[in-house]
Amino acid sequence: TNSLKELENEFSVPKETLLKIIDYFVEELNRGLVDGSDPLGIPMNLQWVMEYPTGNETGDYLALDFGGTNLRVVMVHLLGNGKLETDQGFYKLPSNMRTTNDRNELFDFFAECLEKFLIDKHPSGIPENQVFPLGFTFSYPASQKRIDSGVLQRWTKGFDIPGVEGEDVVPLLMEKIIKRNLPIKVVALINDTCGALVASRYVNPKTEMGCIFGTGVNGSYYEIVSNITKFKGLIPNDIPENSLMLINCEYGSFDNAHKVIPRTKYDLIIDETSPRPGQQTFEKATAGFYLGDLLRLTLLDYYKKGIIFQNISNETVKILETEHCIDASFPSFLESDESDDLKTCKKLFNDVFKIENASFEDCYFARKASEFIGTRAARLSTCGISAAAKKRNYESFDVAADGSLYLKYTKFAERAADALAETFGWPADMPYEKHPIKIVKSLDGSGVGAAVIAALAHNRQSKGL
Ligand code: BG6
Ligand code: GLC
Repeated sequence: TNSLKELENEFSVPKETLLKIIDYFVEELNRGLVDGSDPLGIPMNLQWVMEYPTGNETGDYLALDFGGTNLRVVMVHLLGNGKLETDQGFYKLPSNMRTTNDRNELFDFFAECLEKFLIDKHPSGIPENQVFPLGFTFSYPASQKRIDSGVLQRWTKGFDIPGVEGEDVVPLLMEKIIKRNLPIKVVALINDTCGALVASRYVNPKTEMGCIFGTGVNGSYYEIVSNITKFKGLIPNDIPENSLMLINCEYGSFDNAHKVIPRTKYDLIIDETSPRPGQQTFEKATAGFYLGDLLRLTLLDYYKKGIIFQNISNETVKILETEHCIDASFPSFLESDESDDLKTCKKLFNDVFKIENASFEDCYFARKASEFIGTRAARLSTCGISAAAKKRNYESFDVAADGSLYLKYTKFAERAADALAETFGWPADMPYEKHPIKIVKSLDGSGVGAAVIAALAHNRQSKGL
């Protein structure tokens, strides 16, 4: 239990720490809008959406959703009046694709999925007299000079494919679309957080932020153009100063200068062994891609200290030493075990780590460690929301959220809501639905949002804007 206490301290982020983090986060958001020279700063990328959707956008759009784990193709029929219909296909991203050496494989896989989807929906032949406008949800940091282009700044979430960083990904995709003769044109490149915001705003005017709590962590909100000075020359001079611009913060890179987030030795190992050390500090402490490994490293350390899992086989030690051998669903399952004898935990250790009869103490330790890691992730994640709210003086609004942690990780949503209540000082017994700032499930952000953004881009282009 001394060990557990020590571990709990390492992972705990008390209210005072959260408040300090939020203050510095606000500073970083502000700085990211005016100073693009600091490589450690938050990117604050332009999304080129300069209005809120009204809910009356109409038209048929394709969306290609490349988030990190799965690939989706969605056909969205926007019917106006906040109404819409969707039709979608899911495609599993082959596991070697994250780090393939050939970028062609990735972009051709995208085109192949689009082709499969169109054939599936048009068994008697893909219509030839029509071009499908496509919203490409590319959820990585991208510099956009226009809405239909995006230069990848750097890979995140464990991706590492050469020849894409520094390149515009739209022509890379279009090349493969043309090669397959598909009647598709990319009209907008969007980030998943922006998709979440815009899709929800299509039906809910209280939406002011879009957040992803998934493989990666990030947020977006509308900023006043006159505050965005680092892009002078790019944003036309003739637009009114009080215009809005949707910003993809890319705040997974918050605190790359390591000023405020308390980091454990496990965080340091995660960073050093990642393909991009020094990047995505906030994301590495909070996002789904890293939580499994944080637990694995913790268990390995306490095994080596002689505290847990004594007498395990060499095979188990090897598994414990394997990077990313478990994902965030593992700690989430451990946490969900409320039984007296922790039988789910026992079974999981048998299935995944080949530990035939894990002791109650070992299971208890692992379950507690998961709780500390999961709680820290949820609490820290809310700092992005609080910072954006403070920056824009928003007091009451909805945050459209998506991602596997928010949707599936045990108690993540409750812990996040509790952390918001704690830092804003709302009464602890205030029911969640009364919270002034509410994290709500986004309405299929990346499909619908890509379509709505594509429709807004289309409208602006047809008005010559
Ligand atoms: C999905 C969205 O629901 O959530 C994607 O369609 C998004 O666009 C993803 O990237 C984020 O969650 P995760 O957990 O898959 O990273
Ligand atoms: C990573 C990506 C970002 C994305 C987030 C959630 O942080 O860089 O673009 O929004 O993951 O998917």
